[in-house]
Amino acid sequence: MSTLEDRTVVIIGGGSGIGLEVARRAALDGAKVHLGGRTSSKLAAAAEPLGATWQVVDSTDQDSLAAFFGALDRVDHLFTPGASYVVGPLRELSDEDAASPFETKFWGQYHAVKHAVPRLSADASIVLMSGAASVRPPGAAPAYVACNAAIEGLGRGLAVELAPVRVNVVAPGTIDGTLWAGRPAAVREASFAQYSRDTLLHRVGRESEVADAVLYLFGNGYTTGSTLYPDGGYALR
Ligand SMILES: NC(=O)c1ccc[n+]([C@@H]2O[C@H](COP(=O)([O-])OP(=O)(O)OC[C@H]3O[C@@H](n4cnc5c(N)ncnc54)[C@H](OP(=O)(O)O)[C@@H]3O)[C@@H](O)[C@H]2O)c1
Repeated sequence: MSTLEDRTVVIIGGGSGIGLEVARRAALDGAKVHLGGRTSSKLAAAAEPLGATWQVVDSTDQDSLAAFFGALDRVDHLFTPGASYVVGPLRELSDEDAASPFETKFWGQYHAVKHAVPRLSADASIVLMSGAASVRPPGAAPAYVACNAAIEGLGRGLAVELAPVRVNVVAPGTIDGTLWAGRPAAVREASFAQYSRDTLLHRVGRESEVADAVLYLFGNGYTTGSTLYPDGGYALR
């Protein structure tokens, strides 16, 4: 495993949740961390204790992505969990809501990589964010399921095009953290109980456990085109 000492780690969606946990770990490993997201106050508060830098960026806006990466000298590791979308059944969602995972999570990451490419070092690595719903739908959310499956395909496609830059994907199960804390308590508790029944390890995951997987994918020099599932074995039951 390579060290992150003096490597530039860029995280779009680094102001909270899994992205922030990866930022903390990378900073501890000696990386220069640069955070992106849409809310300056959140980024400033996240960056300060880490000695990180930050810049506002909206991954659904290519001008914003061009400005974000244009301000950087180089990118050694890129992680792109920043997305916000609506999940639900085909019969209930408007077309606009149904498209939102693709607009923000799929195309947001695709365009982030496109604008990062000129800044990537020769031995850079990229980790895209998916979700274990890609292989086992937890409920009626077909567009969200398809979006995650598409992201895993995108990771394989980019690994071929960008080699020797490595491109991998992390696809977590349900994680107890910022994202679920923002959802109604009754929905959260029911979802956590269902997930705990359905997964082999009988609990939801932790943001630190997803960060472990991302740090592994940053550092392992012979892994590319892979998807890792920190999901407690959810996909197998
Ligand atoms: N938590 C889980 O159970 C779980 C499971 C599987 C997959 N995931 C995936 O993990 C990713 C992150 O989730 P999380 O749990 O870390 O939640 P989170 O704390 O809500 O993280 C999302 C971050 O992305 C930023 N963001 C949202 N839209 C953005 C945009 N258009 N451009 C740039 N930044 C944006 C948000 O900040 P601003 O709003 O300030 O921009 C926020 O800091 C999501 O893609 C989600 O699908 C999560």
